[in-house]
Amino acid sequence: MTRVALLISGGGSNMVALARDMTGDHPGRAKLVLSNVPQAGGLLKASALRIPTAVVDHRDHDGRLPFEAAINAELDSARIDLICLAGFMRILTPEFTHRWAGRILNIHPSLLPKYKGLHTHRRAIEAGDTEHGASVHMVTGDLDDGPVLGQAVLSVRADDTPATLAERVLPLEHRLYPAVLRRFLAGDTTPVTIDARD
Ligand code: GAR
Repeated sequence: MTRVALLISGGGSNMVALARDMTGDHPGRAKLVLSNVPQAGGLLKASALRIPTAVVDHRDHDGRLPFEAAINAELDSARIDLICLAGFMRILTPEFTHRWAGRILNIHPSLLPKYKGLHTHRRAIEAGDTEHGASVHMVTGDLDDGPVLGQAVLSVRADDTPATLAERVLPLEHRLYPAVLRRFLAGDTTPVTIDARD
């Protein structure tokens, strides 16, 4: 059984989708939900799902390395094998990603390699893109980089705003991330594709 930690900073809807999928014959189990934001809504959702939670507030630490040392202490104490970043909004150091190399995934709301970083929906609209979506990838030392393990794609409509795009991409993320995790834990890194174009 692969012991999975889900790292969040906010509402945790991707965390819930992953945790709900990890039951029955699934080879993984959600063993820890860790947030850097004490008020993150996802913490209550994790407790409702009876998953242990931890808060490591970046503001309590003097720099990234002590912050990440505190995260590693929580991960080690829960004997975590694999990390899924699920709306975790802190940039991780190469030291951290190196330690977890091959054992850390992320979901990002764009069709990578497009739009690394923030405001992805707005940037896709401003660029006049006709297609947009979300990607799950292995985490490396570079932000929103690393091999892509799956993408969900939809059509950008003429009247889309960043908010309407976000509203339509998020449910696709909830399908994509669990599908990728299942395939990854089966040892298959062939990219998952979800085509939700009009
Ligand atoms: C998701 O859209 C996820 O792709 C994005 O934050 C949202 C979290 O929602 N992640 C990033 O932007 C990471 N750079 P959730 O907390 O409801 O899962």
